[in-house]
Amino acid sequence: MTAALEIKGLQAWYGESHVLHGVDMVVQPGEVVTLLGRNGAGRTTTLRAIMGLTGARKGSIEVNGKETIAMPTHRIAHLGIGYCPEERGIFASLSCEENLLLPPELKGAGPGMSVEEIYAMFPNLAERRHSQGTRLSGGEQQMLAVARILRTGAKLLLLDEISEGLAPVIVQALARMITTLRAKGYTIVMVEQNFRFAAPLADRFYVMEHGRIVEKFGAAELEAKMPVLTELLGV
Ligand SMILES: Nc1ncnc2c1ncn2[C@@H]1O[C@H](COP(=O)(O)OP(=O)(O)OP(=O)(O)O)[C@@H](O)[C@H]1O
Ligand SMILES: [Mg+2]
Repeated sequence: MTAALEIKGLQAWYGESHVLHGVDMVVQPGEVVTLLGRNGAGRTTTLRAIMGLTGARKGSIEVNGKETIAMPTHRIAHLGIGYCPEERGIFASLSCEENLLLPPELKGAGPGMSVEEIYAMFPNLAERRHSQGTRLSGGEQQMLAVARILRTGAKLLLLDEISEGLAPVIVQALARMITTLRAKGYTIVMVEQNFRFAAPLADRFYVMEHGRIVEKFGAAELEAKMPVLTELLGV
C-alpha cells in the first residue's frame, strides 16, 4: 500500500535558523496520527514544511507516492492536503456560510464535502450559517476552519492544535468530529498539546524533541509508554 504521507530525513530552516534535523514519519491512508512534543519541539514547523511553507527544506516528503520536496505550496495542496493552521484564518466580514463557500475544490483531489454534508456533521454551523465570522465563538470558528478544508476535497488533513483554548464541551465535539472523519476514510495528522484529547483518538503517536522524532508507538502501547511520555511531555 502506498503511504498517504512518507517523510524521510526532513530538515527545514527559517532563514538561518535550522529547526528540523531529520524527521522520519509514515502515515498510512485512513490513519489518525498524533504528533506530540513540548513547546518549540518543531511540530508546527513539521506541518508547515509538509506544505512548503518554511524556508529551505531537505530530505523527502512523499504524498501518495509523489515526491513534493521541490514543489511550491499550491502544487502540494493540489495533491489533496488540507492544512488547518493554529491561527484559524476565518474571514471576519463574511458569514459562516460565505466562509464555507469560499474555497475552490482542489483539482487533484476528489469532490469536496457539500455544504449540506458539512451542516449534518456540524449542526452548530448550520444554526450559525448567517452569522458573521467575528460573531462565532472560538469553538465555532475552529469547526468552521476544519469544515472549510473539507470543502476543498482534501483527504489528508494536517490539524495544528485544534483543541487549544476551547471549552471541554467543544473539545468533545471536536473529538467526535475526528472520529467521524476517520470513519469516512480521511487521513489525519494532528499536532496536539492536549494529550487527553489526542490519546483516545489516534492510531499512532510520534513524539518530537528539538526538531527530531524521539519516540513512536501505536495506540496499544500507549499505556506502557506513559512513563516515557510523562518525562518527555510532562503530562
Ligand atoms: N518563523 C520562524 N522563524 C524562526 N524561527 C522559528 C519560526 N517559527 C518557529 N521558529 C522556531 O522553531 C522552533 C520550533 O517551533 P514550532 O513552532 O515548530 O514549535 P511547536 O512544536 O509547534 O511548538 P509550539 O506550537 O508550542 O510553539 C522553535 O524554536 C521556534 O522558536
Ligand atoms: Mg506549534
